[in-house]
Amino acid sequence: MAVHLLISVLIISLASFTYASDPAPLQDFCVAVKDAEAKVFVNGKICKDPNMVSANDFFFPGLNVPGNTSNPLGSKVTPVNVNQLPGLNTLGISLVRIDYAPYGLNPPHTHPRATEVLVVVEGTLYVGFVTSNPADPNVKNKLFTKTLYPGDVFVFPEGLIHFQFNVGKTNAVVFAGLSSQNPGVITIANAVFGSDPPINIDVLTKAFQVDANLKITPCGILIVYVLDIYVEIEPCSLLLMIGMADFCVALKDAEAKVFVNGKICKDPNMVSANDFFFPGLNVPGNTSNPLGSKVTPVNVNQLPGLNTLGISLVRIDYAPYGLNPPHTHPRATEVLVVVKGDVFVFPEGLIHFQFNVGKTNAVVFAGLSSQNPGVITIANAVFGSDPPINVDVLTKAFQVDANVIKYLQGQFWWNID
Ligand SMILES: *[C@@H]1O[C@H](CO)[C@@H](O)[C@H](O)[C@H]1NC(C)=O
Ligand SMILES: *[C@@H]1O[C@H](CO)[C@@H](O)[C@H](O)[C@H]1NC(C)=O
Repeated sequence: MAVHLLISVLIISLASFTYASDPAPLQDFCVAVKDAEAKVFVNGKICKDPNMVSANDFFFPGLNVPGNTSNPLGSKVTPVNVNQLPGLNTLGISLVRIDYAPYGLNPPHTHPRATEVLVVVEGTLYVGFVTSNPADPNVKNKLFTKTLYPGDVFVFPEGLIHFQFNVGKTNAVVFAGLSSQNPGVITIANAVFGSDPPINIDVLTKAFQVDANLKITPCGILIVYVLDIYVEIEPCSLLLMIGMADFCVALKDAEAKVFVNGKICKDPNMVSANDFFFPGLNVPGNTSNPLGSKVTPVNVNQLPGLNTLGISLVRIDYAPYGLNPPHTHPRATEVLVVVKGDVFVFPEGLIHFQFNVGKTNAVVFAGLSSQNPGVITIANAVFGSDPPINVDVLTKAFQVDANVIKYLQGQFWWNID
């Protein structure tokens, strides 16, 4: 009884640690000091002197370069988290590029600290995730799978075991946002069968209910995972048990009878893979508007599976000299990858913009650290509110003639979203 209690307490504390989201920032940014330069260790990283911070601290180049997939799994993850991009420290988000050779696999793994929202840029991927153990021991862990094509978006909820398998004859490429500056990865096969020192054989024999002499190569077990996922990973998903729900797929506002912070959850028994899926992000947005740019959002309003998971995605298209005008996201940090390669961070709540200075169209994908980041376009909010802000207030705030304010208030302010 006492032992049982102890184990329960252990699992509960483990679970609450596992599910802790990144802490909210307490200042505009806290650019990470390199570990080698830090003299004390903290949760996250120590901040660089803000006076020494420059734009390069929020910048990472080269995500246009394919990862080398010449390895037994045929896949390669190129991470852009706080270890590569120090400006992400305290901001609760990061990005990866993943390359897959034909039949390449990103094997079953979890991110202990992050939800992942992925967009396919190239290729055909069979993806899936498995829920944590149900309360009823007679009910199995549920597998959700989907085949994805370019432009498709899929969500892997925080902490759940998931995989991607390139089922096409060509290479595949994805970009994915993750809701932590340092999501962590636990590859199930490596953690269970490849730990140092190895886990006691009796423990694994009993856990997997196989003969102690059965030789299971890491690749062998991976194939088994893809074909029959929950039987094999059950012992590992013990760690993910207990705690909050795996997901809370949003009910459409029109179907909800009460209003809450976020959205009401759909009946979990009615949830399917399509609730975590959004197609069509390969289609360019229509930039024929006064600003020459178009944001295509994939947040909880388009993809109900994102509810409670603290992340979303956008595609932004820019015509030549197109502008995404100065704006803020009141609830999110944004980490943006220009499809041609560079990454940049816009810290939570700060005013930012993007301007296409090239002669050709531009495309970016960006992860945002909220299911519903919100947008406040500065010009629209200040000069285009309904009803208008009192002219005297704006005249004094901007220290210009009242006629200038009236002129600005008379403009039609194009709403980027
Ligand atoms: C890719 O990795 C393999 C195996 O490590 C190596 O032999 C090969 O040279 C690498 N290719 C490139 C282009 O770096
Ligand atoms: C793009 O938007 C413009 C202006 O609203 C419209 O005239 C045009 O037909 C649209 N183009 C496409 C391809 O939808």
